[in-house]
Formats: sequence, C-alpha cells, structure tokens
Amino acid sequence: MIAEDLLDLAPVIPVVVLEDAEAAVPLARALVEGGLPVIEVTLRTPSALAAITRIAAEVPDAVVGAGTVVRPEDAERSAAAGARFLVSPGCTSRLQAAMAATGLPFLPGAATASEAIALLEGGITAMKFFPAEAAGGTACLKALGGPLPQIRFCPTGGISRRNAAEYLALGNVGCVGGSWLTPADAVRDGDWARIRELAAEAAALRRDVVR
Ligand code: 3PG
Repeated sequence: MIAEDLLDLAPVIPVVVLEDAEAAVPLARALVEGGLPVIEVTLRTPSALAAITRIAAEVPDAVVGAGTVVRPEDAERSAAAGARFLVSPGCTSRLQAAMAATGLPFLPGAATASEAIALLEGGITAMKFFPAEAAGGTACLKALGGPLPQIRFCPTGGISRRNAAEYLALGNVGCVGGSWLTPADAVRDGDWARIRELAAEAAALRRDVVR
C-alpha cells in the first residue's frame, strides 16, 4: 500500500490516545465494526506501541498505524511494533528519511505552502494538514489547491462531526483525521457501543465531489 491509498480506505482516520493497552483490542473492534478500519494510535502514552502490536495481532480487519511520530527512532520502533503506516504532525529531512526507511506508507505533516513544497521535492504527494483548524481550515486548503493541485491531504486538528463534511467536500482532501470518535470517557469506561456509533456516523460521511 502506498500513502495515496491510505487516504482512500475510509473517510475518517480515528486518532487514538490509549492510556491502557488492555483497551486497544475492544476499541479497535468497535471502530472496525462501525466502519472505520484505519486507526492511528498516537505515540503519546507509554502503552502506545503495545497497543499497536495487540491491534495488529488480534484485529485483522484493522489497518493500524502510529501517529505523533516526531523522532526518527519512533519510525523504526513503530514498524517493529506492527504499525502499517506512520503519521507525523510535521516533518524534517531526518524524520522523512527515517519514515521512508521503514518502507511503510507515511503521512508527514505540513501546514504551509513551503512545508508542502519541501515534501513534494521528496516525491511526497499525500500528507497530513496539521493543525487543520488553527492553520486556516478549509479556506487554507482551498487556497493551497490552486498552486499545488497534485497534493492530497488528510486534515487533522480541530475536526469533528460538526465540520468534517466541509473538509471532505474539498477536491484535495482524501480523508480527515480526528479524536472525536474515541472520547476519553468512553475509552476509560469501556463504552464500545458509543464508539461504534460514533464510527458508524463518521463512516457514512462521503465526499460529494467527483475527482
Ligand atoms: C492529533 O494528532 O492530535 C490530531 O490532530 C487530533 O486532533 P483533534 O484532537 O483536534 O482531533
């Protein structure tokens, strides 16, 4: 799979913060059952890598990846844990090289034309747009689509059920990412039915543009 394909698997990539690796498998099952098979587990907790390993081993229909990849060594550690893709909020040439060296598809973050062009120079045409709302939201993405139509984005940061459809209507948005599918209280309480419902609602979002 290449990064471009990753953007087409589902309209929404749930961004997950897992405090407890025990929750990883039921959480992933709920998301997959709701219709969102692509799951980004952020490397923000000590249990993140163990969570990735468990999901990869026990939820075959999930496509689990690592998010918040900010240090070059995070890339290889994530790949070794079983991640099938990598996401970073921003990028440097060292981080880009480390992610590329894993052979996994990856979505490096960009928020400006210069950052996007730097990634394009490395042959990257699929990227995360972060922090989406704070960096200018849909107006910024529309503007970037003028001079840089070859780039497709996964905007993330401040996206929710309220505004996801506006992003998905843009021609240069492949999918969106967000944490609204997995509220902290639902994860803590093991309320998998609620997460399944949130996922199903998000899975029903479809782009209304034809490429
Ligand atoms: C992230 O990497 O933190 C994502 O951007 C999640 O953002 P959100 O919590 O605003 O959805």
